[in-house]
Amino acid sequence: MSLTSSSPTPRGRRRVRASVAAVATVGLAATGVIAFSGTARAADTLGAAAAESGRYFGTAIGPHLLGEADYAATLNQEFNSVVAENDMKWDATEPSQGQFNFSGGDRLVEHAQSQGMEVRGHTLVWHAQQPGWVQGLTGDSLRQAMLDHIDGVAGHFAGQIDSWDVVNEAFEWDGSRRQSNLQQQLGDGWIEEAFRAADAADPDATLCYNDYGTDGINAKSDGIYRMVEDFLARGVPIDCVGFQSHLDSNSDLSSYQQNLQRFADLGVEVQITELDIGGSGSAQANAYRTVTEACVAVQGCAGITIWGFTDKYSWRADDTPLLFDTNYQKKEAYGAVLDALNAAAPAGDGDQEDGTASSYLPAAWREGTSTHRAT
Ligand code: G3I
Repeated sequence: MSLTSSSPTPRGRRRVRASVAAVATVGLAATGVIAFSGTARAADTLGAAAAESGRYFGTAIGPHLLGEADYAATLNQEFNSVVAENDMKWDATEPSQGQFNFSGGDRLVEHAQSQGMEVRGHTLVWHAQQPGWVQGLTGDSLRQAMLDHIDGVAGHFAGQIDSWDVVNEAFEWDGSRRQSNLQQQLGDGWIEEAFRAADAADPDATLCYNDYGTDGINAKSDGIYRMVEDFLARGVPIDCVGFQSHLDSNSDLSSYQQNLQRFADLGVEVQITELDIGGSGSAQANAYRTVTEACVAVQGCAGITIWGFTDKYSWRADDTPLLFDTNYQKKEAYGAVLDALNAAAPAGDGDQEDGTASSYLPAAWREGTSTHRAT
């Protein structure tokens, strides 16, 4: 991946994403996969369809599965972004204090680069999947361990990660802080400290706060909204909010788009980071369509990642929440997502003829007036 920009501003990162779109479009046009009919466009893979509006469409993967031919073929065909389902977490990357293991993460990045895919990093700090040695730490020992971990991991992958989930799942349903070891030992400032450390280790990455249960306007998303508002006002380097979106076919999505929009209006990028939807058939397809339509309707929604792509390897082992069945066949939900991506307004560098903005980026970023992450 050509992440060579020296600019740590969102505009620098935008160029990276635009190049992914260009590669995907050129490649598909050369093989005739994109059908042009008047002004209508239709790409026939998820990644290419998302790239048409300057977005990514990604999936979580297990790098150990890349040797399975159907797994790798489907991944390479359909997606222009990947994230490690487990291999970049704290327990995987620093099993003993100061002893880093990047084998799975490096393999993922290498594969992504060979395929021209973006990479999301997941996740630098989380209360779950902490190695045993972290769980026993208190006070400043825990603080230093967290900062060293961020420096070690984000530093190792610096320049290769488009977006990092810096902090994962730090809020309760009622909008208060989760009472994790991090919160109890380090106090309210720990999230801010984590973002500052990530910014220092990889100034070019888009830095995200990521959580679940934020699929509409509710007490939890309100709490996160207030934190982001505060961070932006005080110049804490946050760029993005990730909405995991582990859903069911009957999940209430009535304020899903409105919720994405209010965060985008604050001036952060929004990303759908771990989408999967339980169920099957039309009900599942309709929910997938609703989520995809919401993202492409929000200018600041940079893309969608599904949490695995084949039901064969979903973490929801008793359900069928993904876009491909256990035999890698496309499900009804796949068609719904592809159609919604193809219906999105095309990307453009500037504003369109009618004066509306065509980039997915928030207006402040396009106009260079964004104050957050100012350097
Ligand atoms: O790697 C070990 C293996 O060595 C061991 O033999 C085996 C025995 O249980 O466990 C393996 O680790 C498992 C790991 O997945 C890799 O397969 C863990 O037990 C298991 O807990 C872990 O589950 C992951 C879970 O996060 C951990 O909390 C899921 O695969 C992963 O899909 C899930 O992902 C999370 C996101 O990170 C955050 N948001 C929610 C999402 C779903 O829970």
